Amino acid sequence: MTFIVGDNCIKCKYTDCVEVCPVDCFYEGPNFLVIHPDECIDCALCEPECPAGAIFAEDEIPAGQEVYLELNAELAEVWDNITEKKEPLPDAAEWDGKPNKLQYLER
Ligand code: SF4
Ligand code: F3S
Repeated sequence: MTFIVGDNCIKCKYTDCVEVCPVDCFYEGPNFLVIHPDECIDCALCEPECPAGAIFAEDEIPAGQEVYLELNAELAEVWDNITEKKEPLPDAAEWDGKPNKLQYLER
């Protein structure tokens, strides 16, 4: 099993999650992070760290966010690894909690 990053990370990208991952399996795009499913060891440490509540176990993905399972796998292959926390995106607080942010995903 793996954990995945879901919809509410987009345009927020708080990056608290990367600090706790023991296997450094987060990958960074312009306005979203993903987890590499083949590297995640299912430790669950990252899930409570995300201020946006955007991280889910593979078998607990909310309805409507199923597409993020494949998206995490796909983008983790092309984006760069991130292991240190950085500043969130400038409008993170404003975007936190807005629904259906997939349309804003930058690749
Ligand atoms: Fe990393 Fe553990 Fe989160 Fe997987 S569940 S991404 S191994 S912190
Ligand atoms: Fe995104 Fe949450 Fe990590 S907003 S960058 S999954 S801390």
